[in-house]
Amino acid sequence: MTKEKVLAILKQNESFISGEKISAGLGVSRMAVSSAVKALRNDGYDIISVTNKGYLLQDNPLIDKLTTGELMSYLPEERLENVLCLDVTDSTNTKLRELAFDNAPAGYVVIANQQTNGRGRRGRSFLSPKDTGIYLSILLRPDCLPHECPTITAWTAVAVSNAIQKVTGVSPSIKWVNDLLLNEKKICGILSELSVESEGGHVQHIIVGIGINVNESEEDFPDEIKNIGTSIYAETGKKTSRAQLAAAVINELDTMMEKWPQERDQYLEQYRKRNITIGKDIQVISGNSSQNAKALEINEDFSLKVMYEDGTIAHLSSGEVSTRLSP
Ligand code: BTN
Repeated sequence: MTKEKVLAILKQNESFISGEKISAGLGVSRMAVSSAVKALRNDGYDIISVTNKGYLLQDNPLIDKLTTGELMSYLPEERLENVLCLDVTDSTNTKLRELAFDNAPAGYVVIANQQTNGRGRRGRSFLSPKDTGIYLSILLRPDCLPHECPTITAWTAVAVSNAIQKVTGVSPSIKWVNDLLLNEKKICGILSELSVESEGGHVQHIIVGIGINVNESEEDFPDEIKNIGTSIYAETGKKTSRAQLAAAVINELDTMMEKWPQERDQYLEQYRKRNITIGKDIQVISGNSSQNAKALEINEDFSLKVMYEDGTIAHLSSGEVSTRLSP
């Protein structure tokens, strides 16, 4: 981690800092510091060195990579021991699944700067372009039965909304069950995948995958999703540090898992406040068929109470609803 630690020190210092001071602070040789600086320059960091003064990191707004070094400005080193940053992977959920079966601990996180096979719900793909979004999966090992898990997905929607609000100031709304929207267009999707023990039926692990459209421009979205998908940047005109936002998401998820399931009321209240599905005419999609209904309320277990056109009431605990366009 020497490279990451040197980067963190350079970021904290607005004036020159000597190689000697860095090496003493980290307990590594001067040679190790100079190799770390070389490696950072290779990564694109603009570091000036002046004899008798030391090193200075130039401001470089173009660098917005999700790396351990960048996350170090926002998360403690102990937390980063359980965070794997990849430049590119097929899907962070798929990668984390392998690690989960290899005994990765609860709370382990995989983040990527790009996904080549980002997966969405219902077998769809999730657009995951390079260096603009956040593609993050976290491993949870709650002691529970499968039917208790849908609430985790709903809680995650609250946790991620809180992180986005803290870092960017914008306040996402939630479309049941777990799409995050800005100005009624989707900025974030969540895919939870469960592994259940064949004997006993206990939950072995849950992988919660979160994809946030952060710094994409409007043109980055293909025509077929332009009217339903957007990014924080496209809606606000402001770029966000993805490392800062990813760290905030991790912090909120950690807090969430400390509170799950006992502090339900707090998450339920926030979930209801952010929800935009209630009162709307919706389509309940199940398999290949869909039925028209009205969304009535969010129940205490985060399920959705709906009334179908024939007056039948139902409580949906997972699945998909789509909001019908108003006439
Ligand atoms: C959806 O809206 O359908 C869910 C999208 C979930 C996308 C995220 S990106 C990180 C993680 N890895 C994946 O392959 N999918 C999830």
